[in-house]
Amino acid sequence: MKPLNNIVSHFKESIFSTMTKLAVENQAINLSQGFPDFDGPSWVIDLATKALQDGKNQYAPSFGILPLREAISANYKRYYQLDYNPHDEIVVTNGATEALYCAITALVNPGDEVVVFEPFYDSYYACLLLAQAKVVPVTLKIPHFKFDLEELKKSISSKTKLLIINNPHNPTGKIFSNHEIEEIAKLANEFDFYILSDEVYEFLTFEKNHTPTASFHSLKDRTITISSTGKTFGLTGWKIGWAAGNPQLIKAIHNVHQFSTFCVAHPLQVAMAQALANMDQYLLEFKRDYLNKRDLLVSGLRKAGFNVQNPEGTYFALAFLPDGESDIEFCQKLIKDKKVAAIPTSAFYLKSNEGSSMIRFCFAKKNETLQSALNNLGL
Ligand SMILES: Cc1ncc(COP(=O)(O)O)c(C=O)c1O
Repeated sequence: MKPLNNIVSHFKESIFSTMTKLAVENQAINLSQGFPDFDGPSWVIDLATKALQDGKNQYAPSFGILPLREAISANYKRYYQLDYNPHDEIVVTNGATEALYCAITALVNPGDEVVVFEPFYDSYYACLLLAQAKVVPVTLKIPHFKFDLEELKKSISSKTKLLIINNPHNPTGKIFSNHEIEEIAKLANEFDFYILSDEVYEFLTFEKNHTPTASFHSLKDRTITISSTGKTFGLTGWKIGWAAGNPQLIKAIHNVHQFSTFCVAHPLQVAMAQALANMDQYLLEFKRDYLNKRDLLVSGLRKAGFNVQNPEGTYFALAFLPDGESDIEFCQKLIKDKKVAAIPTSAFYLKSNEGSSMIRFCFAKKNETLQSALNNLGL
């Protein structure tokens, strides 16, 4: 038979699937995958049940139902003083993942250069390969995960179309400083490139609050802000995400969305519209619970002898391995000998080999799960 698409045939199984399989085979506690092992809030699930029973079961409008776009817009205003017109500056997608795919497809021509901070979330690279972009990685350097401004400047040329930033950042837990974003802004304005800002962990922040990239005044027009409700409501299976940006960008992103998925699960949009409009109290509890989980895991890992960083955001904590250890073999040993699964971080890098010196633990887990993992690690 004739060969399949040249690009797709090179895609490999993701490291998350590989580690999960190994965890299941070894009956290990799975702190590798980035989603909760507990359900989302029952009041939000009840809203979805009601929407299903109320007959919201046919195709939704392709841009997303207006009440959901209005709720998203109102939250940008309420939390960040950012204006996005719900009518033409927001499109609802199947999770942030689809928003990323549609945005990259809508913007990038073959040969365009795209700067990505590594370590990076794996779907960026796959989408960039499909768009036949030239991927230019810039390393966030251990131990503080700052980029080197000179390296960033050297990575940018007149062919740079787009820079992708993920803030708060998976897997490092970093929140980019205002100074770092201002440096990016200067370059974006000088070299006229777009910014794709993946902010799915916007509400999972601890000591610092999140600042959207688009709230830096000079970046508003050239930034596509992507987020979703998966992490915020612990309902990753609902896949309600969106892209927000200027009307020309959103129109182009929607052009891809209408021919990839067309629209997003209607009853879940109805529920999320109401949940997003009423989440102040929930957010307080959400942040408090995750802060406790972070502290439980980080302090436990430290007692177990790991060199762990305190993440500023996200639900991931990175541990630096002792010299001479390498992430993939370390994770395999951890699963087999200690019955705990983590993620080797080299999978998040293209250029640097710094990733082989770290592993990532996810603390979006019940306290009992975290405690059992720590017990297995010898506490
Ligand atoms: C950085 C980052 N972006 C996007 C996503 C995907 O978001 P969604 O589930 O809304 O598609 C994830 C999920 O783990 C993520 O970590």
